[in-house]
This record gives sequence, structure tokens and C-alpha cells, in this order.
Amino acid sequence: MIFRKIGIYSVDISICRAAKSTYLCNDNNAIKHNMLVNFRTILSALTLTALLSCTELPAPELPESPQEEPSEKPGDNNGGSEEPGSEEPGGEEPGGETPSGKTLVLFYSYTGNCKTLAAALAGYAEADVQEIEPAEEGLKYDANNYAIGSRLIAAIREKPNDASSYPAIKPVSRNAADYETIVIVTPLWWSNMAAIMQSYLFNEGSKMKGKKVGLIVSSASSGISSVVADAKRLVPDVQWMGEALWINNSNRSRSVELVKEWWNGLNKKEETMTSEIKITVSGKSLPVKIEDNVATKALVAALREAPITYEAHDYGGFEKVGGIGRTLPSNDSQITTSPGDVILYNSDQIVLFYGSNSWSYTRIGKIQYGTLEELKSFLQAGNGNISVSLSL
Ligand SMILES: Cc1cc2nc3c(=O)[nH]c(=O)nc-3n(C[C@H](O)[C@H](O)[C@H](O)COP(=O)(O)O)c2cc1C
Repeated sequence: MIFRKIGIYSVDISICRAAKSTYLCNDNNAIKHNMLVNFRTILSALTLTALLSCTELPAPELPESPQEEPSEKPGDNNGGSEEPGSEEPGGEEPGGETPSGKTLVLFYSYTGNCKTLAAALAGYAEADVQEIEPAEEGLKYDANNYAIGSRLIAAIREKPNDASSYPAIKPVSRNAADYETIVIVTPLWWSNMAAIMQSYLFNEGSKMKGKKVGLIVSSASSGISSVVADAKRLVPDVQWMGEALWINNSNRSRSVELVKEWWNGLNKKEETMTSEIKITVSGKSLPVKIEDNVATKALVAALREAPITYEAHDYGGFEKVGGIGRTLPSNDSQITTSPGDVILYNSDQIVLFYGSNSWSYTRIGKIQYGTLEELKSFLQAGNGNISVSLSL
């Protein structure tokens, strides 16, 4: 008989509901919770759900909590084409090279999946590659019900700001600070980023400040939102490149193709989106032609995630100004502004000019307006607070 594929996540939820437990199926703190349902219950839930589904074999899955007995070895692939450990990504061994590309692919891989993804990406992106390796060789993270892997993740969850929570890694030869773009390729462990990659980012993440950073995550089946949160915690103040790519057992057979599409998609977005943004006030929108500088790069990266809406008030009879609730990198110089100018002031305020002023500012761009009267009417010049929305 053939069974329809079922996700462990839905099985987990049904188990949790059935047990009326306080166990959180995909929670960061799950590691601390005592599992209230034993392995037999999981097996019977799996069997029951599989029997009810009835068309295809269930995908190999891993329960969300390290307290649970895994139903299958996480590194096992369902229909995967990769052979772990077959080839060095980018055809190079890390060690002593000087940077030759503008892009660095960082990867950690225990069973080989991320190694394959990193190799594919390095080819498409013409990137340099840096493998992150644990200092202690030969550890079996998945042995004894994933005991070591669980312990490493638990330690980081317990004290994420403490360097001693992170397992030691081997020294690396590539310096992230030498690259414009960095892509992190990492496995998921117990819903979090694999501990070895977390160690590297804890030590070196600050070197990526202001750079473009992408993320590829490989899991058996678990969703990657906590890995994305780990990345944002460990690598602050960077321009995240679009959405993270999630490879799992259901799309793994197309992983190399998906990496290519993801990478091309990111670069296409970059090309088409950097020259213009949109400003909206009271339901009316105008285009803003933007400069190419550190501030606009960071602004566009932020707008790729979500529009920025802020309150602006009249000041000096020549501008509407307001704090945007975040800082952008600035490159201030003495400027005399003119109507339509969109300016970054003090790294955290955006000024929309309907008159002129001289000050030390960073240019964002220029509103593409018709007459000065139309601009003043659009900005409600002199008429008090307005809500301004910036978007792509
Ligand atoms: C210690 C450990 C914990 C894991 N935890 C999960 C998990 O919670 N959910 C999941 O879907 N996969 C889990 N996996 C499976 C890996 O995320 C998956 O096999 C990934 O593709 C491995 O990448 P790699 O081959 O590059 O090491 C775990 C694997 C290990 C070794």
C-alpha cells in the first residue's frame, strides 16, 4: 500500500493537542521542556495518521524536541541526489588563499547536504568558499538520540551571549571582512542554526557589518524561522538579501536548481530595485529617484523586508522631518537642498524638502514631482503632521 506524505509538524501538533500538554512543538525553549508524550505515543500517532492518509510513504522526519526519539536519522535524505562528502565546494580546500571573488560562501555540513548546496552556489556566484569545522573531529552529533547535538544547542539557548556556550571551531583562512557579499549555508539542528555555524557567527559576525548577507538553511522538515532569528541575532547590522532559501527533504532532489533560482532572483531584485523607491502620503504616491550610497543600499535592503512608515512634521518653513525608528549608515557632507530632496539627517531621520536649507546631510534621492505647488500639496507643507510611507 502507498501512503500519502505527511509532515511531522502536523503529527507533532496532533500529538500535543491529544496530550493537552504545555509542550511547544516548535519553540526555542522546547529543549527545556520535559516531553510529556512517550515514543510509543508518537509511533501510534504516526501510524494512525499514516493509515488515515493512505497514498504514499511518509517522509523521514525528526521530532522538534531533542527529548523525543527521532523517527529517522535527520541526515537521511528522501529522494536526495547528494552524496555526502563527495567534493569540496568550489573545487577548493580552505587554507591560505587570498580572496579572489566579491562573494564568500560560508558553510558547515555534518552529513553533506549543505556542502552540496555551497558547492552549487559557489559555482553560480563565482564565489570563494569557507568551510566551518568543529575543533573536535569525529564527534557523532546524532548518536544516542542526538545527545551531543542536543547538548550543544541547549547550551547556546541557555546562555546565547556567553562565548563559552559555543563549541570551539577550527581557525578559518578567509576573512569575511574582505567580501562584499556573504552567503551562510547551514543545517538546522533542533529548530535552531547548527551549533558549529553559530560558533563562527558568534566570533566573526561583527565583521559582516553593512555587508549584503544571504542565508540558505537545510533541514529534514522543520521550518527555519528560528534559524533566521539566530542569524539576525548573531549577524547584526547587515543588509539581508531577500528571503532565506529553505531546502528540506521534500525539495532536496531539486536543491541545486533551487539554489540557482534563488541566487539569480536576488541579483535581479538588486538590479531592478535600487534606482527608485516610492513615497506615499495620504494615499497618493510619487516615485523617488535614489542615489547609490551606503544609506540607500541599507534603506532598499530594509524596504525589501517591509515598507517604512513614519510621522513627519513641519520644520523651519522648508521641510517635513521625522524619525524612521531605525538608523541607516550615513555619509554626511555639507549640502544645500532644494525642493523634492529626500535627505537622511542624523542617521535616523528622513527630511522631505519643499524649500531649501544648508546642513551636513546624506542624500537619499529626489521626489519626482510636477510643479512646486503640487509638491507642497503632496507634502501638505505647513499643515502639520503627516504619515509618510516609503516602499519599493
Ligand atoms: C543534531 C541534529 C539535529 C537535527 N535536528 C533537526 C530538526 O529538529 N528538524 C529537522 O527537520 N532536521 C533536523 N536535523 C537534520 C538536518 O537539519 C538535515 O539533515 C540537514 O540537511 C543536514 O545538513 P548537513 O547534511 O549539511 O549536515 C538535525 C540533524 C542533526 C545532526
